[in-house]
Amino acid sequence: MTLGQWLHGKPRPDAPGAIRRARAYELFSAVSFAGRRRRIFGRLVTLAGVAPGDRVLDLGCGPGYLTALAARAAAPGGHALGIDPSGPMIEQARRLRAGVRCSFELGRAEAIEAPEGSVDVVLSSLAIHHIPEGVRGAAFAEMYRVLRPGGRLLIADFRPPRGRLGRHLVGATAGEVMRDNPVERIAPMATTAGFESVTTSRVGVFLHCVRAIKPDR
Ligand SMILES: C[S@@+](CC[C@H](N)C(=O)[O-])C[C@H]1O[C@@H](n2cnc3c(N)ncnc32)[C@H](O)[C@@H]1O
Repeated sequence: MTLGQWLHGKPRPDAPGAIRRARAYELFSAVSFAGRRRRIFGRLVTLAGVAPGDRVLDLGCGPGYLTALAARAAAPGGHALGIDPSGPMIEQARRLRAGVRCSFELGRAEAIEAPEGSVDVVLSSLAIHHIPEGVRGAAFAEMYRVLRPGGRLLIADFRPPRGRLGRHLVGATAGEVMRDNPVERIAPMATTAGFESVTTSRVGVFLHCVRAIKPDR
């Protein structure tokens, strides 16, 4: 069994990509960024252009680290909501990071419970590869629906190493879903959903980022 499989626990039919071992994931996340988690996630918030007053939605929020940073950047006046299909993740996020301007709810990226045009910024880190392939297109359509015209999207996902040793290590620990993660498909999915100004960049060694805007018309 890989670490990835262990973190997931028994797959749930309605959310097969949900991670159940929330405390272990929080520890794994803190350790694997080797002291750079604050800087890297802070960079994502900056790239998304989160500003005071923004309503931010973080999809696949896990224990809520990025959500909390976004909430801080959206103050005063703004709010960040993190959603995740894993009950243990939402409990952990609430315990560690919920506040007046930062909240967490159960939910799935492919069926977001938010009105059309009600969000200024949609964020997602390390979660796209957890959404079942068959509903990833629906998830991008949902991101588009909930954003206001002119709203911003920032997706960051794991960019597998190219070298043989790195690939072997990732495959043996995290599993083949991460080793073979097709991050180059994220930008085309955003374009298909209707987003414009789609650009890609790299943050840190392992994050592939896609930024896009919902047309303002
Ligand atoms: C690797 S964790 C990333 C957590 C957090 N965003 C971070 O960067 O640390 C991926 C998260 O995606 C969640 N997830 C799985 N399926 C999902 C879905 N269909 N929609 C939204 N999130 C999902 C998992 O439960 C897990 O918490």
